[in-house]
Amino acid sequence: MRLDVITLFPDLFSGFLSESILAKAIGRKQLEIQLHNPRLWTEDKHGRVDDRPYGGGPGMVLATQPIIECVEAVQKMDSRPGRLLLLTPAGQRLTQTRIEKLAQDQRLILICGRYEGFDQRIIDILQPDELSIGDFVLNGGEVAAMVVIEAVMRLIPGVLGDDASAREDSFSQEDRGLEFPQYTRPASYRGRDVPDVLLSGNHAAIEQWRKEQSRQRTEARRTTEM
Ligand code: 6GU
Repeated sequence: MRLDVITLFPDLFSGFLSESILAKAIGRKQLEIQLHNPRLWTEDKHGRVDDRPYGGGPGMVLATQPIIECVEAVQKMDSRPGRLLLLTPAGQRLTQTRIEKLAQDQRLILICGRYEGFDQRIIDILQPDELSIGDFVLNGGEVAAMVVIEAVMRLIPGVLGDDASAREDSFSQEDRGLEFPQYTRPASYRGRDVPDVLLSGNHAAIEQWRKEQSRQRTEARRTTEM
């Protein structure tokens, strides 16, 4: 898979991309990631990429020209057209189902916002999928883009170890409860014991206990849809 990230702050990605699993996936050519700064495409003589909002109000708005021309140039860098994603708190909520769909794509182009938002004509012209990682506000789309990259990367065959990918596969589409509690040695710590059932060797009973724990957690921690 090829990922292109369009960001005014490419340096934010350097530590993230050199991290273990991601760095390995890139090293093995399972993943190719390129960063692009729209500032290099601006025609503004002062190098500006943003301007004050028409109609007034606080903050600055990302201008059309540098973003559109950067995206168009990036699209031409590869024969695969790529799915355009724009990260914005006003986007559709990201879910694991959406991540699974994105992981099927050969190429994703992620556009990160900063400031108060994008000139609407960027969205009208490029028609990207607008995505949000949740109902809270970040300074920009960069961290959200990293969330997309990390979640998608895990689903590319061969990127995770065999154990982890096999485990992933065992979660079916509907059966999407929260994880049950896990324990490892010692069996007792500061008077807190591992539940007896996990030491019983009774696999059917263990499976039943885990399902029930998962169900209870999901009910307690997810009042709305997941
Ligand atoms: Cl994608 N961007 C920003 N700026 N804030 C967010 C977000 C994205 N998702 C949740 N909050």
